[in-house]
Amino acid sequence: MNKEEMYEDIRRWKKEKNAVILAHYYQNDEIQAIADYVGDSLALSQIAAKTDAKIIVFCGVHFMAETAKILSPDKKVLLPNMKAGCIMADMIDEVRLSEYKKKNPDTIIMVYVNSTAKVKALSDICVTSSNALKIIDHYAKDNKKLLYCPDQNLGKYAMKLKGYNFDVWPGFCRIHHNLDTSMVERMKEKYPNSLFIAHPECKLDVLQMADYVGSTKQLVEYVEKSDKKDFIIGTEMGVIYEMKKRCPDKNFIPLSKTLICGQMKMTTLKDLYNCLKDETNEITLDEEIRVNAKRCLDRMLELS
Ligand code: 13P
Ligand code: SF4
Repeated sequence: MNKEEMYEDIRRWKKEKNAVILAHYYQNDEIQAIADYVGDSLALSQIAAKTDAKIIVFCGVHFMAETAKILSPDKKVLLPNMKAGCIMADMIDEVRLSEYKKKNPDTIIMVYVNSTAKVKALSDICVTSSNALKIIDHYAKDNKKLLYCPDQNLGKYAMKLKGYNFDVWPGFCRIHHNLDTSMVERMKEKYPNSLFIAHPECKLDVLQMADYVGSTKQLVEYVEKSDKKDFIIGTEMGVIYEMKKRCPDKNFIPLSKTLICGQMKMTTLKDLYNCLKDETNEITLDEEIRVNAKRCLDRMLELS
């Protein structure tokens, strides 16, 4: 069966089953091409919370599909490849977070959306890369004690930018964390008229060299609005698919060839096809955990 035949069936099943396909910008091109919505973590969770569809097929990693289920418990949420996880989300767990909370009972726990439902359930407020600075402001400006977890890089960036001081969990995303300033220097030399744009999961020294820092969606919107032609991309190269689609005449150069998230790329068109056909790989959650995790996500959505 070729790609077009698979797309045809997928489109038919979507209608018959009242299903919606959500995909993250890091997904393989062939997945982004058939998705109803492609977005960053915040946009996709907002769509998941509002959709009238009966089935949400979430092409992304596990925590994203879980977030959709937390917000839309009555919907059937399917993850085409159940092995697709997030390395950063696995760097914190409910046991270690509970220990931290015991030692720091009056600290507000701010959790990055790249985390499990169990970790969200123990947290006070969730953030994503597109609203973290705004929400950190909301809490840190009153000198409240804060833990930002699990992404140390976004936490350190916010502290430097805003002059705050709070605890950060030592987690990171290997794909972004591996970028360094010498790579930026080399690329800037090679493409002197380009702008360097980066995701806030990069290290602080790399972010300080960026012309713009933002979530995947914000990066896509930035290149679209800019009158510049060449961009060095400091995030997973899947975003280039949407950038090219919106701006076919502009040039997008990944900062490094290693900017590929193996977890995100695990999901194939065949996975999506089988998942929608058989309605397999359903996300289920313990109701108490879901309700507590939802509280932390609802606070974020209110402040976004
Ligand atoms: P965004 O919310 O910016 O899409 O980021 C998700 C992610 O996993 C980045 O590595
Ligand atoms: Fe997780 Fe990094 Fe992949 Fe994003 S790019 S899903 S943070 S491992």
